[in-house]
Amino acid sequence: MKNLYDKINEAVEAIREKTEMVPEVGIILGTGLGNLAQEIDDETVIYCTDIPHFASSTVKSHKGNLIVGKLSGKTVAVMEGRFHFYEGYSLQEITFPIRILKELGVKTLIITNAAGGMNAQYEKGEIVLITDHINSTGFNPLVGIDDDRLGLRFPDMSCPYDEKLIALAEKTAAKEGIKTKRGVYLWVTGPSLETKAEYKFMHSIGADLVGMSTVPEVIVAVQAGLKIVGISCVTDLCIPDNLKPVNIEEIIKTAEMAGPKIDALIKALIKKM
Ligand code: HPA
Repeated sequence: MKNLYDKINEAVEAIREKTEMVPEVGIILGTGLGNLAQEIDDETVIYCTDIPHFASSTVKSHKGNLIVGKLSGKTVAVMEGRFHFYEGYSLQEITFPIRILKELGVKTLIITNAAGGMNAQYEKGEIVLITDHINSTGFNPLVGIDDDRLGLRFPDMSCPYDEKLIALAEKTAAKEGIKTKRGVYLWVTGPSLETKAEYKFMHSIGADLVGMSTVPEVIVAVQAGLKIVGISCVTDLCIPDNLKPVNIEEIIKTAEMAGPKIDALIKALIKKM
């Protein structure tokens, strides 16, 4: 059976046959936030089905395609969407794109998501820069992976999100007239949303945001030695004493409405990096 390292190299070889560009920035686009992919110039689109060992999306969308090209004068690799644990993918499949980005040459990862906001200061559609995270699931994408070539067995997690890049993102957003806040993101598996008691609990242990992604990818990105910027879009307010029912269509709609702000921030940030 092939090990993960060999699989990564086979996938990277297949990508290299399609493009010789070496991306320095990797971008993962979250739910409803995929439009930035259309702004990549000189692009090569690599369909997930053409990448060996890549999970292929069961959903009819562009999800899972990898685009390599130019954005704000830098070479970037963009994952148009991502794979989620609630869809039945393994954590190794979900985080495989991060391993690929690293091998392609990426040094900095920009990762976006749609999230519920538990901090009473947040507004719907607001952009929050992730300062830290809580893995509430009990699952870890590094379980069973013991290969020095992929990074440390016990990666340090004292500072997964790059403080300098958070500050730069804040400054850049302010210049662009985009309001941002900071927050701690908590990962749940989904797909059910949370009860009032759960939101209350999650907020009480220090989380400002809750969502069904990002943390497994960030754990692997830390192991891979990437610098990370996490950007959440608050798609629904999860204040237990004033909780309104929410559905996925509304979450996607709010993310799509906030999308242009996040796109503008990412483009301006890349220029400054
Ligand atoms: N909970 C979990 N995931 C989410 C939410 C939420 O309230 N909103 C967007 N993604």
